[in-house]
Amino acid sequence: MTPIYLDYNATTPVDPRVVEAMLPYLQTHFGNPSSASHVWGWSAERAIQKSRLQVADLLGCDAAEVFFTSGSTESNNWALRGMIEEHFLNHPGEKFHVLTSNAEHNSVLKPLLQLQRLFPIEVEWIPVNKEGVVDVHEVRQKIKPTTRLISFIWVNNEIGSVNPIQELSRIAHENKIIFHTDATQALGKVPVDLKSTKIDLLSLSAHKMYGPKGAGALIVRRKNSGVQIQCLICGGGQERGQRSGTLNVAGIVGLGEACRLVKQEMPYELPRALELQNFFWKEILNHWPTARLNGPVPSHVLDTLLWRSPVNLSVTFPQNFPPGGLQDPHLGVSSTSACSSGTASVSHVLTAIGLTPSEAQRTLRLSFGRFTTQDELKEAIQRLRQVFDRTELNSNK
Ligand SMILES: Cc1ncc(COP(=O)(O)O)c(C=O)c1O
Repeated sequence: MTPIYLDYNATTPVDPRVVEAMLPYLQTHFGNPSSASHVWGWSAERAIQKSRLQVADLLGCDAAEVFFTSGSTESNNWALRGMIEEHFLNHPGEKFHVLTSNAEHNSVLKPLLQLQRLFPIEVEWIPVNKEGVVDVHEVRQKIKPTTRLISFIWVNNEIGSVNPIQELSRIAHENKIIFHTDATQALGKVPVDLKSTKIDLLSLSAHKMYGPKGAGALIVRRKNSGVQIQCLICGGGQERGQRSGTLNVAGIVGLGEACRLVKQEMPYELPRALELQNFFWKEILNHWPTARLNGPVPSHVLDTLLWRSPVNLSVTFPQNFPPGGLQDPHLGVSSTSACSSGTASVSHVLTAIGLTPSEAQRTLRLSFGRFTTQDELKEAIQRLRQVFDRTELNSNK
């Protein structure tokens, strides 16, 4: 039985075209891009610059604003810590208020909790509504004269809801506040254009868009707002002295190629994803009429992308999973974000939108994408039914 992979929000398969682009940089072009005195270094450096342009081209920013990292966890940590350190270096004693939400990814939530212990900052967690979205009016009301940083996730990694980033970032700018967004699950799924959106800091990761793990970027929009952040890793001076350490050349080449493909494929991929999503939700309802969808309801029109991701469904089932959770060797699904899926704790995103712990434990995050077919979705439903039937049988014994 071929296993069916429906956990694209945890990581996507690497596109074979990305692998092909990366291979030479693991083989013949193995040079260190910091080696300025020979051809191996030059060719690696050229590849890095090409990737920087490809990332910038997808986002609509300047290549000089792209700083390569190991992925979004690092980018989020860097954006938050870098800004806070910069502030206290230049304005010691001046208050620093941060606005964020209670449905952020752990890579924003946990660094903020830690930074609260290290610096005299005040962090305010705005509750999301039952669809997982931040209310623009509430953000406006919560801004104080000391608010220096606003950070909101663009597309929620568990329930797929889209925050109104255009408006939220505009409010931040009107109030001269730096705006950071975790766009990890947004790229390739909803329209992102930094030319028309007032974002100062943006985190992204290659492995959520058919690139390799261990590569990502922080976009620092110097041209936009002159935002300054302290370096995260000091040392050899790579990435204009902001993020030292020998660059992951093959990974960065993979990130660049993944961005190029996202830009090229989005016009075809998004309508197809919406079709798959609608088909899947209809099929789920056919089999489990009382199943509940978490996050906004999907629709066939492209406008859907303004409120929800087209590649996931977070579904609360009427039946219980087997003790220990749904662990089927033939079905790759998860109940929560990958970094929390090994823990017994209930998802903070699901409780933020009002689910009880028991409902959260009956919830699956089903995510799909470029390589998923309708037949796989149909087969996944059959396999899910078998798991539920087995569980019911065992509990009645
Ligand atoms: C919204 C969001 N932010 C951040 C991350 C962390 O990304 P990375 O795995 O690149 O560190 C993830 C990964 O699951 C995510 O979904």
